[in-house]
Amino acid sequence: MTINFHVLDAKDTSHLNEVKQLEKSLFKKSDVWSPVQILGYAFLTFTSVNVHISKIAVRESYRRLGVATGLIREGLKIATSRQRCLTASLHVNPGNTPAMSLYESLGFKLDGQLHDYYGQGKPALKMILDLLDNSSFPI
Ligand SMILES: CC(C)(COP(=O)(O)OP(=O)(O)OC[C@H]1O[C@@H](n2cnc3c(N)ncnc32)[C@H](O)[C@@H]1OP(=O)(O)O)[C@@H](O)C(=O)NCCC(=O)NCCS
Repeated sequence: MTINFHVLDAKDTSHLNEVKQLEKSLFKKSDVWSPVQILGYAFLTFTSVNVHISKIAVRESYRRLGVATGLIREGLKIATSRQRCLTASLHVNPGNTPAMSLYESLGFKLDGQLHDYYGQGKPALKMILDLLDNSSFPI
């Protein structure tokens, strides 16, 4: 039998549930150490052909590790496979540099401006992603 040892880095959460099951089966008080922690979340609204990303946030100490990218990718996978959406949309404050950079890195393009969205004189940018275009969003 060959046993392989892997060091899991912060980006790799794929084995956390398995570790938790093992922990539960081995220790009576399995809540002493719980490897599962919510690092962030995304709210998505599905319409017939579009998925709208209405909110996304990641714990401060886990930022720049690809968590938001992973959340959006997972959401868009569901949007295309289960919901058959053709586009993804979102509204963003142009002053929110981390969010703007995140969406641009995923291929979202500017699709207009919503005046006074965040209050008087504070517009939101509308961004859109073509989910059929694999070059802009390779799932
Ligand atoms: C925006 C936010 C969700 C990004 O989460 P994250 O998990 O850190 O993002 P990722 O690690 O997936 O970043 C992917 C890319 O986005 C860009 N990016 C993310 N944060 C950035 C920052 N602070 N400055 C510049 N670029 C940034 C980078 O291109 C990054 O790739 P890189 O790390 O390889 O350079 C996070 O900063 C956050 O929760 N902010 C507060 C809530 C918020 O503003 N939400 C969006 C509006 S609802």
